Amino acid sequence: MAALPDRIRSLLFAPAVRPDLIRKMPAVGADAVVIDCEDATPVSAKDSARSDAAALATEIGGEVPTLIRVNDVDTPWFSDDIASLPDTIAGIVLPKVETVAGLEFAAESLTTAGRPDLPVIAGVETALGVADARELLRHPMVSGAYFGAEDFVADMGGSRTADNHEVHHARSVVALAGRLAEVPVIDQIVADFHDDRRCQVECEQARALGYSGKLCIHPAQVAIANMAFTPSPEELDHARRLVSAYQEASARGLAAIDFEGHMVDEPVANQARNLLRLAPG
Ligand code: COA
Ligand code: MG
Repeated sequence: MAALPDRIRSLLFAPAVRPDLIRKMPAVGADAVVIDCEDATPVSAKDSARSDAAALATEIGGEVPTLIRVNDVDTPWFSDDIASLPDTIAGIVLPKVETVAGLEFAAESLTTAGRPDLPVIAGVETALGVADARELLRHPMVSGAYFGAEDFVADMGGSRTADNHEVHHARSVVALAGRLAEVPVIDQIVADFHDDRRCQVECEQARALGYSGKLCIHPAQVAIANMAFTPSPEELDHARRLVSAYQEASARGLAAIDFEGHMVDEPVANQARNLLRLAPG
């Protein structure tokens, strides 16, 4: 079974009712993939999707880290979803987390199923989830999180726009909660999967906010996310030169310098150090 990486740059979804797409997922190049039994599975197929997801995860789980997105804790399907998890998964995605009690119930259910240590990526995608994200993400069961813009906006009674102003606050709140809980966070989907430019811009925005990666619904988005969340050779070179110039200046008793026309002080140097930590290999 392929294990989850610490930071997921691209998390590719396909519906449990689409074995054709799921069988293509290992070749796409995503850091991890999700077989979705939640919103991409119709209510009429919840039971068959559960067993199909388990069989498909067993098929592909050796090739790519594979997770199953179960239904949320308040649904009639949740307990059976957890009881039917195959051994071959690298974790689960738990959607619409809203309360600590719900997380406790999920933790107990995983323990009962004999999987107490299975990594859990929590979906923060409702008004209550965003409002309480700080408390939710620090639950010990949570090893990562995603921000779900579509559900969040639906719950707010708002509407999605191209400039994302309706999610600015929530997206930042989830990044902040992830930082405080020390768990990586994954950014919202781009539903318009033909719009590569939008995906690129959103990846850059998300990285700037501190996100580690992007939810992907289509193969084209995976390459964009992998590249956007990996520092480029130019960025790494710039960061190395900056840190070295700053170190030399520090040794001379300076803490604010002119580096190639920009002021560099301790926090600016720290941003460059953070970037260097993301260097591949
Ligand atoms: N995983 C793996 N392969 C995928 C894929 C996915 N999520 N989505 C599309 N593909 C494949 C297609 O099968 C096609 O393969 P081919 O070149 O061998 O024919 C190729 O990528 C191009 O796909 P395209 O024709 O552009 O898209 P589509 O019309 O087949 O599918 C969607 C579009 C949106 C229906 C599909 O991408 C999808 O279901 N995505 C996931 C949705 C989901 O899980 N949502 C819930 C989580 S937010
Ligand atoms: Mg959702």
